[in-house]
Amino acid sequence: MSKAIQMTINGRHEIFAVGHSGSRWEIPDEETLCTTLRERLDLTGTKEGCGQGACGACTVLLNDVAVPSCQVLTADCDGANIVTIEGLADPVTGELDLLQKVFVEKYAFQCGFCTPGIIMALKGLFIKNSHPTRKEVEEALAGNLCRCISQYHVFEAAELYAQQLQELQEGGQQ
Ligand code: FES
Ligand code: FES
Repeated sequence: MSKAIQMTINGRHEIFAVGHSGSRWEIPDEETLCTTLRERLDLTGTKEGCGQGACGACTVLLNDVAVPSCQVLTADCDGANIVTIEGLADPVTGELDLLQKVFVEKYAFQCGFCTPGIIMALKGLFIKNSHPTRKEVEEALAGNLCRCISQYHVFEAAELYAQQLQELQEGGQQ
C-alpha cells in the first residue's frame, strides 16, 4: 500500500508515492532525502559524503532549518519546504545568491565538495540570526567537514556576508 506525499523543492511542487520502488516517483519507505534529491531529481549539488550524518556535505534547508539530508527520510517530508544549493540562485536570471557571491569573492573553497553543505548550513544560521558571532558561525559549521582545510576563508566569507546583509538592511531602511 503506497501513500502520496508532496513537498516543495526549490520552489517546485513535487509529489511522490512512498512504499514502492519502481518509477522515478515511486520511492521506498527507507529512502533518504539525499538520495531522492540526487538520484530522482538530479539535484547533485547536494553531496553524499559519509551517509551517516557526520560530514555535513548533504546539508539542505528543511523548513528553513539546515539538516543533513542523509539522515532524513523522504517519507517524513510530507508538506515540507526544501531548499538545496541549486535553489539559491535567482531562478530567472541565474544570478548567484549573495552568500554564494561572497564565497567566490573570498575563495572560500578548494575542491568544492563540502561547499554546498557549508553554504546551506550558513543559510540556516543566517535565517535565524542575521548577525552571528564568530563562535555562532563556528558552532553552525561544527558538523561540516572540509578535507581541504578552507575554513579560514569560509569564516571570512561568513563575516563579509553578515556585513553586506547589514548594509542591505540599512540601505532598505533609508
Ligand atoms: Fe550526510 Fe555526511 S553525507 S552528513
Ligand atoms: Fe574540498 Fe572542502 S573545499 S572538501
